[in-house]
Amino acid sequence: MKHIAIIPGDGIGVDVTREAVKVLERVEKVYDIKLKMTHFDWNADKYLSTGITLPEGAMDMFRNEYDAIFVGAFGDPRVPDMKHAADILLGLRFGLDLYINLRPVKPLHESLIPLKGRTAKDINFTVFRENTEGMYVNIGGNFKKGTPDEIAIQEDMNTRKGVERIIVAAFEYAKANGRKRLTMTDKSNVLRYGHDLWQRVFFEVAKGYPDIESNTQFVDAVTMWMVLNPDQYDVIVTNNMFGDIITDLGAALQGGLGMAGSGNIHPGKVSLFEPVHGSAPKYAGKNIANPLGAILTVAMMLEYVEYKEAANGIEQAVIKALSEGEKTQDLGGKLSTTEMGDTICKYLA
Ligand code: NAD
Ligand code: IPM
Ligand code: MN
Repeated sequence: MKHIAIIPGDGIGVDVTREAVKVLERVEKVYDIKLKMTHFDWNADKYLSTGITLPEGAMDMFRNEYDAIFVGAFGDPRVPDMKHAADILLGLRFGLDLYINLRPVKPLHESLIPLKGRTAKDINFTVFRENTEGMYVNIGGNFKKGTPDEIAIQEDMNTRKGVERIIVAAFEYAKANGRKRLTMTDKSNVLRYGHDLWQRVFFEVAKGYPDIESNTQFVDAVTMWMVLNPDQYDVIVTNNMFGDIITDLGAALQGGLGMAGSGNIHPGKVSLFEPVHGSAPKYAGKNIANPLGAILTVAMMLEYVEYKEAANGIEQAVIKALSEGEKTQDLGGKLSTTEMGDTICKYLA
């Protein structure tokens, strides 16, 4: 039995989580696995009505009692500073020390690929995004705020330990999965302190993996190569901010934000899984959002908690649905969010 926390969050997070949970309930029966799912209503509504974001004790509760956490999405126009998301989502990433943000880029059907002349065999790589530091640490401040002389400082924190552990994780993943090449992307031509550290650590760690081809590319060029030559990538490792940006582009390569899943992982510890997309407020509650990113995310979660057969079953059901042309509107189909979830359950049977 695995204990899973379910946090739907805001906007379409609620719509897609409902379908992801439906799929989990289905795989419990089909694969004879046992999940105990506990739901948490932490979101913008709760924050606005009670002031509560991540309740006291939540971090320890997850550490001690849970195997994994599933999150829909956070973001609400009524909370422009994203205070609740900072406390809950970033709070859990930092507090549980989930240093690997694993984001696969793999289109599951040829029809989803937006690039002319490319096929699914050309686009199959995994991004290792550093997830506990960089520009996300919220260190900085304002001076003379609101005046014409205002100064705003936002620090970019890169620690030797943080950089090394994500690079090692990416090499280990490449080795374990038979991937030939690891590309590190940075902006070390300009960021001569922070990203020079990434360069030095990358080539030092690479010496321990002589069978894996290692190279580095500047991130501006990577956004071009991901479009023109995505076939060159097996694994990409990068910092928190660049990883955030290039994985939305990665999502586009697999059909759009509605198709991309991710894991926030600390190997051996309770980890958090969420689709790459946000709360897409304009689609919230309309039953039109694509739940496949969320459904593929729960597959990643099941693989993490060692229910590998069930994880693979979900991916196969998604592939089957896409090959039958059963898709939501964002992919050019006609299905609603709930119909898409039902379709995956049907193919899981
Ligand atoms: P978004 O990912 O919510 O949506 C961008 C666009 O992508 C949407 O307008 C829609 O066209 C498309 N899209 C995304 N998910 C889709 C789905 N499942 N089905 C169909 N189409 C989909 O990004 P945004 O508009 O930049 O941000 C909206 C809010 O979400 C903001 O508050 C932002 O901070 C937040 N956000 C949260 C997360 C998260 O919780 N992990 C991630 C990204 C953005
Ligand atoms: C993501 C999101 C988050 C991030 C936001 C909502 C804090 O964009 O998970 O990709 O920037 O990491
Ligand atoms: Mn993002």
